[in-house]
Amino acid sequence: MSTHASTSPSPSPSPHRPAQPGAAEVVLEARGVTKHFEVRGRKGTSIVRAVEDIDLQLHRGEIVAMVGESGSGKTTVARLLSLYYEATSGEILLDGKLVDHVSGKRARDYYAQVQLLFQDPFASLNSLKPIRHILGRALRIHGRARSRRETEEKIHELLRRVNLTPPEQYIDKYPHELSGGQRQRIVIARALAVEPQVMLGDEPISMLDVSIRLDVLNLLKKLRDEEGLALLYITHDIASARYIADRINVMYAGQMIEGGSSEDVIQSPQHPYTRLLLDSSPDPARGLDGDQQSLFDEVGDLGEPPSLITPPKGCRFNPRCPFAMEICNREQPEKIEISPGHWARCWLHQEGKAHLLRQETIRFGVPIEAAAELPDGGAPDIADVFDREDEPESDS
Ligand SMILES: Nc1ncnc2c1ncn2[C@@H]1O[C@H](COP(=O)(O)OP(=O)(O)OP(=O)(O)O)[C@@H](O)[C@H]1O
Ligand code: SF4
Ligand SMILES: [Mg+2]
Repeated sequence: MSTHASTSPSPSPSPHRPAQPGAAEVVLEARGVTKHFEVRGRKGTSIVRAVEDIDLQLHRGEIVAMVGESGSGKTTVARLLSLYYEATSGEILLDGKLVDHVSGKRARDYYAQVQLLFQDPFASLNSLKPIRHILGRALRIHGRARSRRETEEKIHELLRRVNLTPPEQYIDKYPHELSGGQRQRIVIARALAVEPQVMLGDEPISMLDVSIRLDVLNLLKKLRDEEGLALLYITHDIASARYIADRINVMYAGQMIEGGSSEDVIQSPQHPYTRLLLDSSPDPARGLDGDQQSLFDEVGDLGEPPSLITPPKGCRFNPRCPFAMEICNREQPEKIEISPGHWARCWLHQEGKAHLLRQETIRFGVPIEAAAELPDGGAPDIADVFDREDEPESDS
């Protein structure tokens, strides 16, 4: 692997950002949240274990990234936190108070604090209405402006906050008259209109042109730094997560498998799947050093994720893990804290084999049967894996 350590400067701390994890006020929290979907097919009803036992804290003035491949459960988490789905089990707390699955006025009160940013800015805006109407409506519904004059002033202020200046240039436009990046700024402005404490961004830049993605990320950073917003940034792209987030949580097959400060997770990944994500990504450090296009390069081939109807027993990553041991097929690994605020769920830590994660190169995709034939009870030294690769017949 290319080293994950970086000499790039870390972003300077914001007045709202916690000096240490947990130092700032927790605004939104998920505790042991699980979502199972019932799906009916020709063979009867099955359960999709989309999200299991998620613990997540969003602090004021902090951006937390949730990174994982397609189908890992990221959108389901965002929808649970925005009360779009009712959790199968677990608790969601806003400002320390338990939130039920609510509707009507109580739902509106919740959405005044927690706003969801969608992936597709075009689909989430009413194309028949001008920006004045779209933003004015959000202000009025949440009682943030009373008179026509106040509404007009606040719309101008919102457009300035999302860097759409001068506001007069945008206020009478329709969504289709704006670029993708401008539309996403309108979506952000509409979310800001309700003066929320939290924004949940579900891949908010993935449908934008590469050239404007960075502008939108910088805008979100500005809102964190200057307004103390708590942001959940959902992405499949660990490089952009590093660029924007204070902390990174990694999702795999519906479970959170590693979490910590962005620097700890990127420089010292403690789960083989995080290594796979990093090894398949453009070097996340480069994005901070000027080659910012590389933040958005395509992630490499990650192989097949497991079924969430019949997930693998034990650790869900075991069919793809070159280090899988017998215990990995039997029991789910517990959460282990590796250093303050940095944790992972992987048996390598309890089995005294965490050094394998520091191998320069890890060969993913070695079948578990092949790994079991290797010395050391199925936890192959990386050199053994390469030896096998040199034999053409065994490289299946
Ligand atoms: N309403 C639903 N009914 C049944 N299964 C669902 C439903 N919503 C999501 N799932 C399943 O839950 C799993 C997680 O889906 P989710 O959309 O949360 O993943 P994701 O990480 O957001 O993926 P992507 O990166 O592709 O957006 C998938 O297997 C998906 O098929
Ligand atoms: S070593 Fe075991 S527990 Fe760790 S990721 Fe691999 S299969 Fe999972
Ligand atoms: Mg999604």
